[in-house]
Amino acid sequence: MAKIKLHLGDITQLNVDAIVNAANNSLLGGGGVDGAIHRAAGPDLLDFCRTLNGCETGQAKITPAFNLPCRYVIHTVGPIWRGGHNDEPELLQSCYVKCLELARKHKLKTLAFPAISCGIYRYPITEAAKLCIRTIHEEVSQNSGSLETVFLVSFDASMQRIYEQTLVNFTTS
Ligand code: APR
Repeated sequence: MAKIKLHLGDITQLNVDAIVNAANNSLLGGGGVDGAIHRAAGPDLLDFCRTLNGCETGQAKITPAFNLPCRYVIHTVGPIWRGGHNDEPELLQSCYVKCLELARKHKLKTLAFPAISCGIYRYPITEAAKLCIRTIHEEVSQNSGSLETVFLVSFDASMQRIYEQTLVNFTTS
């Protein structure tokens, strides 16, 4: 079964099989991790994304990584937090599930997630961390396949602390 590992740092620097991009529906770049990934990948990523006709919230699409050290970028679109009564949990869970499905389909061994929707989309971080860890654990427990390690990447120490505490609570519950 794949292991879940925490990593503090810039996801664009990770030499893993695929990094996940917290994109928007256009897939044409933006701020946050989306902007960082496009800057690091170079303009060929945007040209490639233009051919994808966007991405629905909760879905995921895979592209080459171009100038990034990883092999692929899996673009997913998380929900914008609007109070929690507009299917936000279901859509965020779908992001993790669809990204893991694509990783298995492409026989990837290592995959790195940013904290989808936890920035500009303002999803409550503690709730998102619980959903993320529970969903990934369920997925990797129920689906054998190529994945060996799933990294949860925090861009700041406060996010890392929330992941750490969530993992402790999850494994002792
Ligand atoms: N490496 C790892 N994590 C990062 C990086 C990075 N280089 N840059 C930002 N993050 C973290 C943020 O700190 C946050 O915890 O990624 C998480 C997601 O934040 P956002 O990038 O703002 O993504 P999201 O909240 O899903 O909002 C998506 O923002 O950038 C636009 O085009 C994007 O419209 C979309 C929206």
